[in-house]
Amino acid sequence: MRLNASHLEKMRIVGYAANSLTSRYYDVLRTQILQDMDKNGWQFLAITSPTPNCGKTVTACNLAMSVARLPEREVLLVDMDMHKAQVSEYLGINHSNNLLSVLEDRASLGDSCVEAKFGPESVSVLPGTPARDGAAEWMASQTMANVLQAIKREFRSGIVIFDLPPLLLGSDVLSILPRMDAVLLVTGVGTTTPNEIKECQKHLQRSHLVRVVVNKVSETSESYYGYGYS
Ligand SMILES: Nc1ncnc2c1ncn2[C@@H]1O[C@H](COP(=O)(O)OP(=O)(O)OP(=O)(O)O)[C@@H](O)[C@H]1O
Ligand SMILES: [Mg+2]
Repeated sequence: MRLNASHLEKMRIVGYAANSLTSRYYDVLRTQILQDMDKNGWQFLAITSPTPNCGKTVTACNLAMSVARLPEREVLLVDMDMHKAQVSEYLGINHSNNLLSVLEDRASLGDSCVEAKFGPESVSVLPGTPARDGAAEWMASQTMANVLQAIKREFRSGIVIFDLPPLLLGSDVLSILPRMDAVLLVTGVGTTTPNEIKECQKHLQRSHLVRVVVNKVSETSESYYGYGYS
């Protein structure tokens, strides 16, 4: 299906356009992350944050589009936030199957992914849906491990970006981290405290933390932080 540019813009998804200032931030981030991932032969990138509302989903969608704009790059975006699945809403996708359909064996992986087209490019998306009380159990399950194996097999030639729940809420992310190759931590200015970042670093000791994104940097605070992907 073809994505609607004005809907994307409303949702702060700017990664489809190569020439906007904000999409250039994502292009720099993409280039740095892909260099690390290629060098190490990594395929699975997890996106998480200390607490909710830091900008994980916006970052995941923008980054996926930025990767897709590169020649000869394929990307699969998986909505693995089984508490607050919002990738479909942000991209404006309407698809009947999703990650839970695959986990519950109601649909195949291929039938559950949707090709989201923008300009001459496209991103494969495996949408999510809330699993209510079962989210933590699904994340820790052998079934999820099998689905990840299937993704690895069927999507051999591309990068897979996972939009995860917040790291410091519950056990969801901790269960899945060992199956990820690299982690991108999205923090929010005015949302994330230094203690929360320290707490995350403790949990991420055995993971490859490729970047920490300082998100929601306004023009006035940008010079203070010196960097940041606004
Ligand atoms: N760089 C930014 N500047 C301003 N607002 C932003 C920025 N990035 C995201 N937002 C806004 O912040 C809100 C949260 O963003 P998003 O949904 O991506 O966060 P999240 O970490 O995925 O949240 P959740 O934990 O609820 O899944 C949204 O309303 C989004 O539009
Ligand atoms: Mg989200």
